Parts: sequence; structure tokens; C-alpha cells
Amino acid sequence: MKNLKDKKILLIICGGIAAYKSLDTIRILKKNGCEIKTILTKSSKEFVTPLSITSLSQGKVYEDLFSIENESEMDHIALSRWADLILVVPATANTISKLAKGSSEDLASTVILASNKPIFLVPSMNVRMWEHPSTKENLNILKKYSYKIIGPEIGDMACGEYGEGKMTEPVDIVNKINDYLFVINKNNKLKALVTAGPTKEYIDPIRFITNKSSGKQGYEIAKSLSRNGYQTTLISGPTNLKINDEIKLIKVETTEQMFKETQKNLPVDVAIFSAAVADFKVVEKYDVKIKKKDELNIKLEKNIDILTYVSNHNSMRPKLVIGFAAETNNLEDNAIEKLKNKNCDMIIANDVSNRNIGFDSDFNEVTIFYKNDKKEKLFAKNKSLISEEIVERVNNQLN
Ligand code: CTP
Repeated sequence: MKNLKDKKILLIICGGIAAYKSLDTIRILKKNGCEIKTILTKSSKEFVTPLSITSLSQGKVYEDLFSIENESEMDHIALSRWADLILVVPATANTISKLAKGSSEDLASTVILASNKPIFLVPSMNVRMWEHPSTKENLNILKKYSYKIIGPEIGDMACGEYGEGKMTEPVDIVNKINDYLFVINKNNKLKALVTAGPTKEYIDPIRFITNKSSGKQGYEIAKSLSRNGYQTTLISGPTNLKINDEIKLIKVETTEQMFKETQKNLPVDVAIFSAAVADFKVVEKYDVKIKKKDELNIKLEKNIDILTYVSNHNSMRPKLVIGFAAETNNLEDNAIEKLKNKNCDMIIANDVSNRNIGFDSDFNEVTIFYKNDKKEKLFAKNKSLISEEIVERVNNQLN
């Protein structure tokens, strides 16, 4: 498992009967060349001892949030920055609930809250606890925050019951992490470009034509691509949204500016066009504010289609070109027409006649149309989750 070599893993062990399996997880991670530091929650010490963990991991074990010894050596922020990834094993129902609320009452939850690294949770609990709606709700919140969940499995439990809730075996946990790192390592060499938000076409210095678009879906896609290792550039029309530093953000206003920045940032391996581009621009803009008494004569001309330009580029066509189609009617026909006319590999279509979803909302429901006539619906969910699913498909197509 060569993707694990020299990786820094922060292992968080919580208090559950499956905690003993964390020892085997450490053993396999060490065998594959990982450097390990461990945080023990208070209740985990009922199941494993700091001595057994240090002996196996050959790394430091941290226990208290306010320990003078630890703080002078490495505080909770430094600890979360040190790690390449955080692995919570086992993740109990209580821990999952605390994380979903953003709690920071002990060292483990504080480090996780302060982390900007991938976080893997390996749940382990009784089947009824796992099936409880509150656990399901907490997990949905955590998935929305991009936590990665490994398992649980179906089987005999320590409590004597049978069902879903059994912790995934250590060897399978490590395999899952290795698979994840394999994709990230590969994607690190790939470049992605995303357009997002509306564009503005000025009529006079203070008036403009624009499209309805919050930019949320495009920003979430850029974040997801970056989390998946891609070197990501986001070219955004005017929005109120923020983005993390890892992403190269280029702010533009007009379609012409968006087009020029797109050209400058080619070549890329994948380009996703989620911007709601203004299709027309004013032929002759007024230099001064139009007055009511003026006779209006506004002539419009078509803007360049950025997506079509890129997808038909002879030498710099990205391996994967993905367009969006926001439609109020005839969704399937319009999307398929755009897929063909704009020479895309995928079109992501959403029905914007539904007022609770899509525009301005945090939620979206889309259908993906592929070049090979396949189509696939991603049912209504948070835009960050839709983005994760879209990027999963990008990974599959590029790898
Ligand atoms: N697009 C683009 N440049 C344009 C217009 C659209 O890059 N000048 C991209 C959008 O970002 C989106 C896709 O093309 O990925 C489809 O955009 P959409 O507005 O749905 O379609 P249009 O081509 O504008 O067609 P229509 O308005 O007639 O539906």
C-alpha cells in the first residue's frame, strides 16, 4: 500500500467496545510506513491504555485539552495541522452526535473542529443506536461537512445482537484510506477549472443585464475538486461567497472578462462550466448614466459561448468538459441538445421551475446526461453533497 508511506495520521480513539481494534489498525498503518500520533478520549482509556498505544505507534499519545506538557510541545491547532488525515476509530454514537453539533469540549472534538484535513469516521455501535433517526441525521450533517464514513458492517455484535453497526475490520479501514490517498495522489497532478455565478453586461455605468445565480453550486464544486486533490481555479462572476485559499479565485464581472480569464487558465484536465453567463451584451454602452428623458435605444449582440469555445478547442480541449443546463421546461430534450451542440462529455441539468431547490437554495436535484446516452439522477440534497457526487464521477472518468 505505497500511498500510505510517510503519511502522518492522527488517530482518535473513542470509548467503545471496538476500541481494542484500533491497536490492530495502528499495527497495519505502521507496517505501511505511516507516522502516527494518537488522541485518547477519556472513556477510551476504559478499553485501551496509553502505554499499549505508544508502544505500538511509537508516537506521542495526547489526552487532555489543557495539558501544560502538550501545549508547550504542540497545541491542538498545531496537532490538527500536523496530520495529513484524521482517523476516528471507533466513532461512537456520542462522538458522532458531538461532531455534528460542532462541539469542542475535549481535545478530540476541538482538534477535529479546528482541522482543515480529511476526516474519516469509523462508526461502531449497537444496531438500534445506528438505526436511530438522530444518528442518521447526525451522519447526514457530517457528510454535508465532507466527513468520510467507513462502514459500519452487518454482523454479530459484542452486545450479543446482530445487525448493522459492527466496526469495519482494521485491514479494510486501511485499504479504504489507501484507495482515497491513491486518488488524491493522482489528482494532485491534475488541473481543474470551474466557472461560477452570474455575469453582468453593463448598459450604462450603473445599470446592467444579468442572470439569476447565487454561484453556490459552482463554489461547492470547486471546493470538492480541491478536497479531491485537483489544482483548482475558480472564475467567478459577482457573488457574496467565500472560498478557501487552496483555490485560485479570479473575480470577473462581464462575460468577456470570464472568457479572457478562462483562455488564460487553459490547459486544464477538467473544466466545469456552472456560470449563468449573460447571453447578450450591449453593442454600444452609454458612457454616462441614462436619464429618464433620454430616448432609449439599446441594441444587444450575442456574447461568445465560453463552454463551446473550450470544448471545441483544437489543442487545449480538456479531457473532460462538463456543462450545466438550468431549464424551466423540456429538461431532458434541452439538456441532450446542449450536450451535443456544446460538445460536452457531461451535462448537469436542473429543473429551475421548482422554487425550493436550485437557484439561491442550498439544495439541488440534478440529472446528469452523458455522451454515451446514459443518464443518472442525483436526488435532492445539499449542494456540497451534490458536488461530492459530481466530483466522484469526474474521478472515475479521469482515472
Ligand atoms: N455557457 C457559457 N457561455 C455562454 C453561455 C453559456 O459558457 N455564453 C455555458 C453555461 O455555463 C452552461 C452551459 O453553457 O454550462 C449552458 O448554459 P445555458 O445558459 O443553460 O444555455 P445557453 O447556451 O445560454 O442556451 P439557452 O439560454 O438558450 O438555454
